[in-house]
Amino acid sequence: MINNETNLLRSVLCYEQGHVRRTQHILKVFALAKLFGEQEKLSVEEQQILQAAAILHDIAIKYCKEHCNGDASQDNQKRVAPILVTRFLKEANYLPSYIPRIIDLVLCHHDYDNAKSKLLQLLIEADLIVNCYESRPDHKKAEYVKAIFQTDSGKELLALCLKEEIK
Ligand SMILES: [Fe+2]
Repeated sequence: MINNETNLLRSVLCYEQGHVRRTQHILKVFALAKLFGEQEKLSVEEQQILQAAAILHDIAIKYCKEHCNGDASQDNQKRVAPILVTRFLKEANYLPSYIPRIIDLVLCHHDYDNAKSKLLQLLIEADLIVNCYESRPDHKKAEYVKAIFQTDSGKELLALCLKEEIK
Protein backbone atom coordinates (compact mmCIF):
# COMPACT_ATOMS: atom_id res chain seq x y z
CA MET A 1 0.00 0.00 0.00
CA ILE A 2 1.33 3.43 -1.05
CA ASN A 3 1.45 6.21 1.59
CA ASN A 4 0.46 3.91 4.41
CA GLU A 5 -0.48 6.46 7.05
CA THR A 6 -1.75 3.88 9.53
CA ASN A 7 1.59 2.13 9.33
CA LEU A 8 3.45 5.42 9.74
CA LEU A 9 1.45 6.43 12.82
CA ARG A 10 1.82 3.01 14.40
CA SER A 11 5.57 2.88 13.85
CA VAL A 12 6.07 6.40 15.25
CA LEU A 13 4.00 5.58 18.35
CA CYS A 14 6.01 2.38 18.84
CA TYR A 15 9.24 4.37 18.42
CA GLU A 16 8.11 6.71 21.22
CA GLN A 17 7.78 3.67 23.52
CA GLY A 18 4.75 5.03 25.36
CA HIS A 19 6.37 8.33 26.32
CA VAL A 20 3.28 10.03 27.75
CA ARG A 21 3.73 13.65 26.69
CA ARG A 22 5.17 13.04 23.22
CA THR A 23 2.69 10.28 22.36
CA GLN A 24 -0.29 12.44 23.27
CA HIS A 25 1.23 15.46 21.52
CA ILE A 26 1.63 13.54 18.25
CA LEU A 27 -1.96 12.30 18.34
CA LYS A 28 -3.37 15.75 19.08
CA VAL A 29 -1.37 17.60 16.43
CA PHE A 30 -2.25 14.90 13.90
CA ALA A 31 -5.98 15.25 14.65
CA LEU A 32 -5.95 19.05 14.36
CA ALA A 33 -3.82 19.07 11.21
CA LYS A 34 -6.27 16.63 9.61
CA LEU A 35 -9.18 18.86 10.57
CA PHE A 36 -7.51 22.04 9.29
CA GLY A 37 -6.48 20.41 6.01
CA GLU A 38 -10.01 19.16 5.40
CA GLN A 39 -11.52 22.55 6.22
CA GLU A 40 -9.13 24.21 3.79
CA LYS A 41 -10.11 21.63 1.15
CA LEU A 42 -6.56 20.54 0.37
CA SER A 43 -5.96 18.13 -2.48
CA VAL A 44 -5.59 14.46 -1.53
CA GLU A 45 -1.84 14.73 -2.04
CA GLU A 46 -1.49 17.86 0.11
CA GLN A 47 -3.66 16.33 2.83
CA GLN A 48 -1.45 13.22 2.95
CA ILE A 49 1.69 15.35 3.11
CA LEU A 50 0.29 17.54 5.89
CA GLN A 51 -0.86 14.58 7.97
CA ALA A 52 2.46 12.76 7.58
CA ALA A 53 4.31 15.93 8.61
CA ALA A 54 2.05 16.22 11.66
CA ILE A 55 2.86 12.65 12.71
CA LEU A 56 6.59 13.26 12.23
CA HIS A 57 6.98 16.91 13.20
CA ASP A 58 8.73 16.26 16.54
CA ILE A 59 10.33 12.93 15.60
CA ALA A 60 13.88 14.15 16.31
CA ILE A 61 13.31 14.96 20.00
CA LYS A 62 13.74 11.41 21.30
CA TYR A 63 16.84 10.74 19.20
CA CYS A 64 18.48 13.99 20.31
CA LYS A 65 17.72 13.36 23.97
CA GLU A 66 19.30 9.91 23.72
CA HIS A 67 22.26 10.66 21.45
CA CYS A 68 23.15 14.35 21.88
CA ASN A 69 23.71 14.52 25.66
CA GLY A 70 20.03 15.24 26.24
CA ASP A 71 20.19 18.32 24.00
CA ALA A 72 17.06 18.47 21.84
CA SER A 73 17.77 22.04 20.70
CA GLN A 74 16.31 23.18 17.40
CA ASP A 75 19.74 22.95 15.76
CA ASN A 76 20.23 19.36 16.82
CA GLN A 77 16.71 18.42 15.78
CA LYS A 78 17.18 19.99 12.36
CA ARG A 79 20.37 18.00 11.88
CA VAL A 80 18.86 14.58 12.51
CA ALA A 81 15.24 15.09 11.42
CA PRO A 82 15.77 14.53 7.67
CA ILE A 83 17.35 11.11 8.28
CA LEU A 84 14.62 9.97 10.66
CA VAL A 85 11.76 11.37 8.58
CA THR A 86 13.11 9.68 5.45
CA ARG A 87 13.48 6.36 7.25
CA PHE A 88 9.93 6.34 8.64
CA LEU A 89 8.38 7.46 5.36
CA LYS A 90 10.24 4.85 3.33
CA GLU A 91 9.16 2.11 5.75
CA ALA A 92 5.54 3.25 5.37
CA ASN A 93 5.91 3.23 1.59
CA TYR A 94 5.46 6.95 0.97
CA LEU A 95 6.03 8.18 -2.57
CA PRO A 96 9.63 9.42 -2.96
CA SER A 97 8.34 12.72 -4.33
CA TYR A 98 6.52 13.40 -1.03
CA ILE A 99 9.56 12.94 1.17
CA PRO A 100 11.39 16.27 0.62
CA ARG A 101 8.14 18.18 1.06
CA ILE A 102 7.44 16.46 4.37
CA ILE A 103 11.03 17.02 5.55
CA ASP A 104 10.65 20.69 4.73
CA LEU A 105 7.50 21.02 6.83
CA VAL A 106 9.14 19.22 9.76
CA LEU A 107 12.24 21.42 9.56
CA CYS A 108 10.31 24.69 9.33
CA HIS A 109 7.48 24.16 11.81
CA HIS A 110 9.04 26.56 14.33
CA ASP A 111 9.94 29.24 11.77
CA TYR A 112 7.05 31.49 12.68
CA ASP A 113 8.46 34.69 11.21
CA ASN A 114 9.30 33.60 7.67
CA ALA A 115 6.93 33.39 4.73
CA LYS A 116 4.90 30.20 5.01
CA SER A 117 3.31 27.86 2.52
CA LYS A 118 -0.31 26.96 3.19
CA LEU A 119 0.63 23.49 4.47
CA LEU A 120 3.26 24.90 6.82
CA GLN A 121 0.78 27.46 8.15
CA LEU A 122 -1.74 24.69 8.93
CA LEU A 123 0.90 22.54 10.66
CA ILE A 124 2.10 25.51 12.72
CA GLU A 125 -1.45 26.39 13.79
CA ALA A 126 -2.20 22.80 14.82
CA ASP A 127 1.04 22.54 16.81
CA LEU A 128 0.58 25.93 18.50
CA ILE A 129 -2.97 25.18 19.65
CA VAL A 130 -1.86 21.88 21.17
CA ASN A 131 1.14 23.60 22.79
CA CYS A 132 -1.16 26.22 24.33
CA TYR A 133 -3.37 23.51 25.84
CA GLU A 134 -0.32 21.66 27.14
CA SER A 135 1.32 24.66 28.75
CA ARG A 136 -0.72 27.77 29.27
CA PRO A 137 0.91 30.88 27.84
CA ASP A 138 0.87 34.15 29.79
CA HIS A 139 -0.98 37.11 28.28
CA LYS A 140 2.04 38.37 26.34
CA LYS A 141 2.86 34.97 24.88
CA ALA A 142 -0.81 34.41 24.05
CA GLU A 143 -0.89 37.66 22.06
CA TYR A 144 2.29 36.63 20.24
CA VAL A 145 0.81 33.24 19.34
CA LYS A 146 -2.48 34.78 18.24
CA ALA A 147 -0.70 37.06 15.77
CA ILE A 148 0.79 34.03 13.99
CA PHE A 149 -2.63 32.64 13.07
CA GLN A 150 -4.09 33.21 9.59
CA THR A 151 -6.84 30.66 8.96
CA ASP A 152 -10.41 31.07 10.20
CA SER A 153 -10.59 27.56 11.63
CA GLY A 154 -7.27 27.97 13.40
CA LYS A 155 -8.26 31.33 14.87
CA GLU A 156 -11.59 29.94 16.02
CA LEU A 157 -10.06 27.01 17.90
CA LEU A 158 -7.20 29.07 19.33
CA ALA A 159 -9.72 31.55 20.74
CA LEU A 160 -11.47 28.71 22.58
CA CYS A 161 -8.17 27.62 24.08
CA LEU A 162 -7.06 31.11 25.09
CA LYS A 163 -10.33 32.61 26.24
CA GLU A 164 -8.88 33.27 29.69
CA GLU A 165 -5.58 34.70 28.45
CA ILE A 166 -7.00 36.94 25.69
CA LYS A 167 -10.17 38.81 26.46
FE1 LIG B 1 4.98 19.83 18.38
